[in-house]
Amino acid sequence: MNRLRLALTKGRIEKQTIALFEKIGYDCSQIKEKGRRLILEVEDFDVLLAKPDDVITYIEYGVCDLGIVGKDTIAEKDGKFYEVLDLGFGKCKFALANKKNVDFYEGSGVKTIATKYPNIARSFFESKNMDVRIIKIEGSVEVAPILGLADGIVDIVETGNTLVANGLEVKEDIMDISSRLIVNTASMKLKMDKINNFISKLESVI
Ligand code: PRP
Repeated sequence: MNRLRLALTKGRIEKQTIALFEKIGYDCSQIKEKGRRLILEVEDFDVLLAKPDDVITYIEYGVCDLGIVGKDTIAEKDGKFYEVLDLGFGKCKFALANKKNVDFYEGSGVKTIATKYPNIARSFFESKNMDVRIIKIEGSVEVAPILGLADGIVDIVETGNTLVANGLEVKEDIMDISSRLIVNTASMKLKMDKINNFISKLESVI
C-alpha cells in the first residue's frame, strides 16, 4: 500500500474534515459526490468512510494508516495506535446526568446507569470507588431515567438541549471530547515522511 489510506468517520466528523481539507486546498469532490462508493481519492491519498468503531479496527489491523475519529470512541474502545493530533472540532464532553433537582448520590443502594459507553462509565465510577450497575443502551439514552430504567446516564453532551428537553441536567463532567487524528504504529515508522507532511498541513489550518 503505497498511497496513504485514511479511515474517516462518516457523518458529522466527515463534514468537518472536508471543511478542514478544503482549507488546506485539497480537492474533496470525490467524497462530496461519493454515491455508494466507500473508498475515495483525495489528492495523493485515499479516504475510506467508516463507522467510528471500525475506524479504530482498520487502524489497529494496519489496513489504514491514518484515522479521524472522536475521542469518545477512542476512550471507550481503547486500542494500540498513536493519537497524534486534536483536530479541534466535534467538541463536546462526557457527563453524568440525571433528573433535574434530584440528588444522584442520595440513598445507599447500588445505582443503575444507562449508557452507550459502558467502559467510560465503569472507569468513572471505579475512580470514585462506587459500585454501579451498568445497562448498555444503543442510543437516545436520555429516556432511561424517565422510564425508571436507570438512576442516571453517562452520555455525550454537546449543547445540552437533549438533556433540557427531557428534564435532565448534568451532575458531573467526566471528560472533554473532540475529533482526533490517529496513526497505525507501523505506518508511523514506515511512512514517516508522508505522515508528518500530512500532519503539518493539518496543523497549519487548525
Ligand atoms: C448524542 C448524545 C446525546 C446528544 C447530545 O446523540 O448521545 O443524545 O447527542 O447532544 P446535545 O447536548 O447537543 O443535545 P446522537 O445525536 O449522536 O444520537 P444517539 O442518541 O442515537 O447516540
